[in-house]
Order: sequence, then structure tokens, then C-alpha cells
Amino acid sequence: KNIVILISGRGSNMEAVVRAAEAEQWPARIAAVISNRADAKGLEFAAARGIPTAVVPNKEYPTREAFDAALQAVIDRFAPDLVVLAGFMRILTPGFVEHYSGRMLNIHPSLLPLFPGLHTHEAALAAGHAEHGATVHFVTAELDHGPMVDQVSVPVLPGDTADTLAQRLLVQEHVLYPRAIRWFIEDKLIVENGQVYGPHRP
Ligand code: GRF
Repeated sequence: KNIVILISGRGSNMEAVVRAAEAEQWPARIAAVISNRADAKGLEFAAARGIPTAVVPNKEYPTREAFDAALQAVIDRFAPDLVVLAGFMRILTPGFVEHYSGRMLNIHPSLLPLFPGLHTHEAALAAGHAEHGATVHFVTAELDHGPMVDQVSVPVLPGDTADTLAQRLLVQEHVLYPRAIRWFIEDKLIVENGQVYGPHRP
């Protein structure tokens, strides 16, 4: 199976997925890592591993539709069975989302349905919650919604800042996301009526 990973920056989740796929010898290969930004840090790691990389700079397209069409053309060159969003900071058009329906996953740093959108760590702190977390979900047209595959939670500790909380969570994201992707690759996730039936269901 072919996995295409989309990133916009650091790419630590992408790195965790690449490492897990190798270490656990998944019946899948990371066919490409694609970014909307040429300066995305993660591209260096991917290239160093011999993974094909591509950049589709969103700034060069006049509309979201034009960007998404260009992105889709590049992704589809790699015949993906699964598209993995890993810190890909673009809002996607409904047509693009529809094209990858049932085969595109995202990781969001909150316990969805709490805190969709940006600044989730700040939001969890401001709300005074004792727990924070991350969610892996199938991507649907509505931002940070879509059938949930799995979640992980971490405690919010006294003195936490958005950074300390994000760091504690990120370590867990790197376990959560590869595991969820592996389930998909192994055909262990069934989506029915907006619900995921699989090894874990939040
Ligand atoms: C992660 O916190 C992820 O949950 C969110 O964006 C961040 C990406 O980090 N979607 P990285 O690029 O994977 O290091």
C-alpha cells in the first residue's frame, strides 16, 4: 500500500510514522512527503531517508480550488491508498476532501469535539481542564470533524504553559498516529454512519 504524507513544518509526526513503518515492517511504503512550504523542516528528514518529496506552494495559486487541484495532481502521481495529514496547515476544499473520502487521516491536538481549529493548547489551559489530548480522525469537509479513530490524553500539570503542554502531548501523538495508520493499512478500521469501528473507539 502507498501512503502519502502532507506536512507544513517540523514534521515530527511524519517522522514517527516513517520510523514506525520501517521498524515494524508495515506492508506499506511511504510513497512521498509533500509540503505546501519549501522551508518545511520535515522535508529534509524525508529526503535523507530516500523518500520522494515535493513542494506545492499554496502562495502560487490564486484560489484554494486551484491550489487543491494542483496538490491533488501531485499526490495522485503516487497512487495513494492513504493520505496522511501531519501538521498540514491548510484548509481543504470540499472537492479535495471528497476525492480522498475514507482514505485521508488527520491528527488534531485536542480531545475532539473540544477545541477544533488553532491554539488548542492555550484553549485547554484557559478552560482549566485537567486533561488535554490528541485525536486521529478521518477527514471530512468540516474542519477537525470527521469520524474519530483514536484519542490519547495527557494530564495538565500545575505551571504548564502552552509549550510544556504541547511537548508532553507531542510525545504521545508520536505513538497514537503511527498506531492508527497501521490499523488503516491492516484494514482494521471500518467506517459506518460516521463512526469508526476498530481496535479503539473513543
Ligand atoms: C501536531 O501537534 C499535530 O497534532 C498538529 O500539528 C502539529 C504538527 O507537528 N496537527 P509536527 O509537524 O508533526 O511536528
